[in-house]
Amino acid sequence: MRVAAIVVAAGRGERAGGDKPKQYRPLMGEPVLRRALRLFCAHPAVEAIQPVIDFDHSRDYQAAAAGLAKLLAPAPGGSTRQRSVLAGLEAIEAAAPKIVLVHDAARPFASSSLVDRALAAVEATGAAVPVLPIADTIKRVDASGHVTGTLDRAELRVIQTPQVFSYPPLLAAHRRARAANRDDFTDDAALAEWAGISIATFAGEAGNMKLTAPEDFARFAAPGAAAPSDVRTGTGFDVHAFGPGDHVMLGGVKIPHAKGLSGHSDADVLLHALTDAVLGAIAEADIGKHFPPSDARWRGASSDRFLAHAVALLRARGGEIAHLDATILSETPKIGPYRDKICRRIAEIAGIEAGRVSVKATTTEGLGFIGRGEGIAAMATATARLPFGDL
Ligand code: CTP
Ligand code: MG
Repeated sequence: MRVAAIVVAAGRGERAGGDKPKQYRPLMGEPVLRRALRLFCAHPAVEAIQPVIDFDHSRDYQAAAAGLAKLLAPAPGGSTRQRSVLAGLEAIEAAAPKIVLVHDAARPFASSSLVDRALAAVEATGAAVPVLPIADTIKRVDASGHVTGTLDRAELRVIQTPQVFSYPPLLAAHRRARAANRDDFTDDAALAEWAGISIATFAGEAGNMKLTAPEDFARFAAPGAAAPSDVRTGTGFDVHAFGPGDHVMLGGVKIPHAKGLSGHSDADVLLHALTDAVLGAIAEADIGKHFPPSDARWRGASSDRFLAHAVALLRARGGEIAHLDATILSETPKIGPYRDKICRRIAEIAGIEAGRVSVKATTTEGLGFIGRGEGIAAMATATARLPFGDL
């Protein structure tokens, strides 16, 4: 085996309070631990995941881990984090991985690209930890609360998990520490340091916070609370030529006009641009790939379904639309009187509030094919929030 991940979840979460240990408390619809485990389940380089738990909470564990792939049977944790990590390391000894990632169950927001960086770093060095620079000034304070000195923050870093190591030396270091009656190292890097292992660093993530205090949970309990998210933007552009007819479809709204628009489906140039923008935000090619113009099923079809489909693909990845913005380029018909109705209809199709949709219109001052009244163009931007690590 090349890469295994240990997720330590045997703590009591005393500082966080609550009616059960923090790793089993629900956070935006799933237990904290499940979110932390999913990170490694979804990562292609991680072959096995070794959870370490307190068997007093087996029932909560079963609920949190149900149905996840790559999970080994949980190992029983110890009275300190260090002891729990050692239990995890010993549980995978027979599998003999080359590399091990050690992660706190209490950090459910780590991303897949953080794991990528960890694996790249360990390749070069054999031991590495994710770090963040410190923005605040750090001072030393005595027991009475008086400042006794100011540290140089340029040489200080905040340390996160997952920490990554060559497996055999980490296991040996843990065993040496236990034999020396040391069991109070709060992270594996501190223990490895003590054992004389040199440790490199790689960029951590501001979103990768460790849930520790009650307010860390309160922050995510509000209705509509979102995980620190991976914000993505997609753009779309479309043109349709005028042809015979007595109305045009724009944003799912029928607008009477002396001409119609010709082309794919009902030629709703605005919904087509918006569909491409949403597909762009999730790097899912374009409308033509999902709904080929050559397919007779889409001839004359309402374009509502194209936008709805793109949004459904986004939601299937746990994503949400933050905002849709579009501009219609045309000389006629006048869009102003229909603008609110168009925004409401787009919001309805996309399943978001109308306040998250903006539609603007412009002429091109008589210039070009739009100026000559040969057709209508639309451009659109979609902003989406996606969970870290799932793309
Ligand atoms: N941990 C563990 N075994 C322990 C102590 C901690 O597996 N004996 C795990 C926790 O479950 C957590 C991680 O180590 O995922 C980081 O520890 P911490 O944030 O301190 O969690 P707790 O010890 O559970 O919380 P507290 O210190 O507030 O009681
Ligand atoms: Mg603790």
